[in-house]
Amino acid sequence: MQLHFTTKISSKPLIYGCMTIGGDFDASPLSSEQRKSGRAAIDAALECGINFFDHADIYCFGKSETVFGEFLAANPDLRDKIILQSKCGICLRNQPEEGLPGRYDLSFSHIVNAVDGSLRRLQTDHLDVLLLHRPDILIEPKEVAQAFDRLYRTGKVRNFGVSNHTPAQIELLKASIEQPIVVNQIEYNPLHTVLHDSAIHANMKRPHFGNPGEGLIEYCQLHGITLQAWGSLAKGVLTGKPLGPDSEPRIRDTAMLVERLAKERSVSKEAIVIAWILRHPAGIRPVIGTTNPDRIRACCEATKVELSRIDWYQVYTAALGHGVP
Ligand SMILES: NC(=O)c1ccc[n+]([C@@H]2O[C@H](COP(=O)([O-])OP(=O)(O)OC[C@H]3O[C@@H](n4cnc5c(N)ncnc54)[C@H](OP(=O)(O)O)[C@@H]3O)[C@@H](O)[C@H]2O)c1
Repeated sequence: MQLHFTTKISSKPLIYGCMTIGGDFDASPLSSEQRKSGRAAIDAALECGINFFDHADIYCFGKSETVFGEFLAANPDLRDKIILQSKCGICLRNQPEEGLPGRYDLSFSHIVNAVDGSLRRLQTDHLDVLLLHRPDILIEPKEVAQAFDRLYRTGKVRNFGVSNHTPAQIELLKASIEQPIVVNQIEYNPLHTVLHDSAIHANMKRPHFGNPGEGLIEYCQLHGITLQAWGSLAKGVLTGKPLGPDSEPRIRDTAMLVERLAKERSVSKEAIVIAWILRHPAGIRPVIGTTNPDRIRACCEATKVELSRIDWYQVYTAALGHGVP
């Protein structure tokens, strides 16, 4: 199958995450200030050469897609130059009615309707990539297959992927769907490394790092699934966000190390954290979530940095708070 995805992939490995460009996660209408800062963030990402944008139907209750759709409508030449990704499958608590629980829904009708909503808000006729946001315990893979077929045949979605899915969950899907899974978006940063903490502790009694994502990175490498890292800046705690008096020593130590490495290379602290993700041989693509234009530019300096094996392990073990076995 021809992957439209690969034809437009940017030479820059970074993805801009649009989660908070719509202001707040609530039903309040978008203010002109929120629209303005959302546009400034998109502009900064584009100016840095980023051409891959990550969304989800739930981000700021749809307002993040709305801000981006307005930007696209005002810049009609842009659509063909960018890769637009969105996600579906999470239903927030009290949505659409008061009293409903937070839940997941990967049923046929939910997927198809969610994509229609995203396309409407984004003011486009297709998504380059659709991700299933989180695994739905009640998933019926044949329904997902029907939804993917419908979306693919109607040209509404060109490529499909998942987020926060284990190898077993991907295998279950692959047994029913025709289209390849091209992406798995997972949380990954120096302070969130569960996916390889277990890998280096095979066959050890202690410490026990077993987790259901075991082998996920290797599985995606073997199956040509691009990994994308959400939470790539660890919410800023390694790059200048003030740390509270109770913050863990390992976080302080890692933040100091990041600062030292940044000074040595005359780059931003953000560049070091993002370069640490890029150093992984799986080709993990960081999803940058900051809305601050200066921080977006600071993240983009990462492509100029090459961390050595020693730098990488120094950051990893500082963040773990202990050495490797
Ligand atoms: N698939 C999933 O389940 C999933 C889950 C979450 C997110 N995502 C995607 O991944 C993207 C990134 O995720 P994320 O937003 O959790 O990641 P992140 O990059 O770790 O965190 C971004 C947040 O940290 C703040 N921040 C960064 N540096 C800071 C500093 N020096 N001082 C103070 N605050 C700082 C940012 O605030 P400012 O905006 O003010 O800079 C922003 O609120 C999202 O936009 C979304 O596209 C996916």
